[in-house]
Amino acid sequence: MTQLIDRFGRRIRYLRISITDRCDLRCRYCMAEDMTFLPRAQILTLEEIYTLAEAFVALGVEKIRITGGEPLVRRGALELIEKIGRLPLKELVMTTNGMRLAASARQLAAVGVRRINISLDSLRPERFRHLTRVGDLSRVLTGIEAARQAGFSGIKLNTVVMRGSNHDEVVDLVRFAVDKGLDISFIEEMPLGVIDGHDRAAVFYSSDQVRADLMREFKLLPVVEHRRTGGPSRYFKVAGTESRVGFISPHSHNFCADCNRVRLTVEGRLLLCLGNEHSVDLKQVLRRYPGEGDRLKAAIMKAMEIKPERHYFELDEQPIVLRHMNVTGG
Ligand code: GTP
Ligand code: 5AD
Ligand code: SF4
Repeated sequence: MTQLIDRFGRRIRYLRISITDRCDLRCRYCMAEDMTFLPRAQILTLEEIYTLAEAFVALGVEKIRITGGEPLVRRGALELIEKIGRLPLKELVMTTNGMRLAASARQLAAVGVRRINISLDSLRPERFRHLTRVGDLSRVLTGIEAARQAGFSGIKLNTVVMRGSNHDEVVDLVRFAVDKGLDISFIEEMPLGVIDGHDRAAVFYSSDQVRADLMREFKLLPVVEHRRTGGPSRYFKVAGTESRVGFISPHSHNFCADCNRVRLTVEGRLLLCLGNEHSVDLKQVLRRYPGEGDRLKAAIMKAMEIKPERHYFELDEQPIVLRHMNVTGG
């Protein structure tokens, strides 16, 4: 079978698809206050997204993660996810902000989403509102409850840690995760897109600091599982519990050598690395040569030649990647 292998011998088995750049939150580390979203003509239709997913699966992709923006704000998202769920994948997973999960968790589990990641940066309602500019913590907590009832095989919380904003909550967040039987990852903020609220270097709080804070309260036992997904998280089991704590540390630990993933934006751009601008316009291929699957696959295979070796993030310089995270979905 044809496979996707880049210049550094990395085999790409994992595709992250952003199905919308829109979101019902405005997280300060992700977006500027005043964002313009893409006009409809510029974004892939649901059918086009499916066609691309099919092509990637034919090229050996085994895992797809649906992301956004917030994927659940796109009309027709569930139908699309259901269709993608029927492709021969090892795993279909999703990342969401949880705001609309109460209404759709059960259906997502039923159509084959195995695991979901839910962003949660604070357990304090006022602070949550401040960090997300418009979010309602109680809705997300209800969403998390709905997800727990829905029968996913795994639920992971994602927390972006910022000094002076929420770094003092990491112990509370782990307690919450342990109580609910969930996993949690702490993420170092990445310089993606220009934001207006804070100086990213000034609020940097490293994974090593978070881990030191946690080790005063919990015993963390290393697990080597990151090899399994090739994901960037380094995981620890919280001793005596079912929960794992992950650290995503693009600044303090580099994980690019194991990278197994590429990203598709809703504009149909294939991004070869989260921290670089290298991309290929697959929408153009799709629209110029409709129905020509082989041409599409050839374009995807050729894209592997420009997958960068690694990312370089400098927090105290202007971002070199100008797109915001809502465009890439993390
Ligand atoms: P899996 O993909 O299933 O391993 O889970 P995940 O934790 O990577 O997925 P999720 O969507 O929850 O992403 C969490 C965060 O990890 C993302 O928002 C990014 O901040 C970070 N991340 C994921 N993949 C990469 C990557 O390839 N490079 C970098 N620098 N960060 C990444
Ligand atoms: N740096 C790190 N993580 C980010 N996220 C959004 N923007 C950034 C950023 N600049 C996280 C969200 C979500 C995940 C998909 O990406 O919190 O959990
Ligand atoms: Fe929306 Fe996620 Fe960005 Fe927050 S981080 S604004 S939830 S896309």
